[in-house]
Amino acid sequence: MASSVPKACKLALIQLAVTADKEANLGNARSHVLEAASRGANLIVLPECFNSPYGTGYFPEYAESIKDGPSVKALSAMAKDAKAYLIGGSIPERDATDGKIYNTCTIYNPDGEMIGTHRKVHLFNIDVPGKIRFQESETLSPGNKLTQVDTDFGKIGVGICYDMRFPEPAMIAAREGCFAMIYPGAFNTTTGPLHWELLQRARALDNQMFVATCSPARDMSASYHAWGHSSVVGPAGDVIQTTEEKQDIVYADLDLSKIAEFRQNIPLGDQRRFDLYADISKVNP
Ligand SMILES: *[C@@H]1O[C@H](CO)[C@@H](O)[C@H](O)[C@H]1NC(C)=O
Repeated sequence: MASSVPKACKLALIQLAVTADKEANLGNARSHVLEAASRGANLIVLPECFNSPYGTGYFPEYAESIKDGPSVKALSAMAKDAKAYLIGGSIPERDATDGKIYNTCTIYNPDGEMIGTHRKVHLFNIDVPGKIRFQESETLSPGNKLTQVDTDFGKIGVGICYDMRFPEPAMIAAREGCFAMIYPGAFNTTTGPLHWELLQRARALDNQMFVATCSPARDMSASYHAWGHSSVVGPAGDVIQTTEEKQDIVYADLDLSKIAEFRQNIPLGDQRRFDLYADISKVNP
């Protein structure tokens, strides 16, 4: 009766060292994905912007189609050769029809078939006069849907980086039955220590679900210095596994029974007061 037993989920977060050489990045991603698979990982995650340096100036140059561009072909082959689910971080995508550029995550099953895509929904724009100006919307367009994918382990919600600061997508995913939210992301060295882990733990604890993040490794010679610290947090808000800023693979066996166990101990789900506030998973925008 093996088919009735849910497959054990072994997660691997690949904190990749990203360079300005797209082909080299794809090759490095591939070797790390295959390494993770050889150690038993069957759900593998790559970082935000894993094939290109992070920065609005780079997006137009590195952007490609997610129908038949070199990166999606490489990702599909990696998933298939690894025989694993692959949450393919994100790449700058150029839409073949409208020419607009998106920050897009593509997701594959162990046969290498694309089973979902997420275009970063919340774009990060800041302008503090005299201090810092970073406007993703100068080159990127926002996605217009939330993303959940079906896997052998259950449903997973996917967001990208700044999407993690907004509680709603995770809340909706949890109420719609996802066991995890996964966020490829690249916080910087100021917001990283302040918020990166805190936000993951908040999303996990509020929703009593797993949350994982996958950052690029830090490159002090690049214009953007990523925080790193790719991590996995459990449904009780506990950090299961993490790393520092260097290239690394973070592994975690996800015990999905922890969700039911924790929800039984602290039954938020049954004790909500939807007579006092709305259930946002049931409110149509
Ligand atoms: C990181 O981003 C924050 C938020 O936008 C900003 O205030 C800060 O100056 C940035 N830090 C670095 C090191 O660029």
